[in-house]
Amino acid sequence: MPTPVVAPSLLAANHGEFIAGIRAIEAAGLTWVHLDIMDGHFVPNISFGPQVVADLRPRTKLHFDVHLMLTHPDRFVTAFAKAGAERLTVHIEAAHDMGSTLAAIKAAGLKAGIAMNPDSDPRRLLPYLASVDLVLCMTVFPGFGGQAFIPEVLDSIRFLAAERQARGHDFRLEVDGGINAETGRQCRAAGADTLVAGTAFFKATDRQAFVAGLTA
Ligand code: DX5
Ligand code: ZN
Repeated sequence: MPTPVVAPSLLAANHGEFIAGIRAIEAAGLTWVHLDIMDGHFVPNISFGPQVVADLRPRTKLHFDVHLMLTHPDRFVTAFAKAGAERLTVHIEAAHDMGSTLAAIKAAGLKAGIAMNPDSDPRRLLPYLASVDLVLCMTVFPGFGGQAFIPEVLDSIRFLAAERQARGHDFRLEVDGGINAETGRQCRAAGADTLVAGTAFFKATDRQAFVAGLTA
């Protein structure tokens, strides 16, 4: 079982002061930052691209957990690898060949993640579990921070956690969207170990206490 990690999403920080968001994550003693990349097509929102990632790269040692919410993620593997991403997660619902995209991510020397939306069947991920370092169960429909947690996803988390154990894999099981102290606790109990928190982290009055509650 991977060690618990909280990965704050920079989407919830001030987009004119990304460095301040990075420093807040560092000040909380965390090691991951979740970077949400949106193309306005796979999801109804646009966030930021590889140039932002490249400009942040030399200014922090945080692990860049890059979440590609793109219709064609395969077209951007090289760009984000060059920008300094350490991990690229791509959606099963996007228009690409998942097997070849995962292979390209690993050929670029990065960790590979596979993501599913709340209404997707987790069994669609089974053929890829042996090829990934991370599985992301979206707990909101992707595109925006600050949405309400979708509890039905807990069934998918439990299913994938059971498959991980049954198959002897050790990929990270990540959740993303509406994660706060209570929903994070529910996801941990269901088998998740890697928790993305945007709004709840940046709005927390005591960020270290918030993180401690999620990683106990
Ligand atoms: C949504 C993104 C999430 C989002 C999480 O499409 O993938 O990472 O930023 O934000 P909160 O934690 O505010 O729900
Ligand atoms: Zn995300």
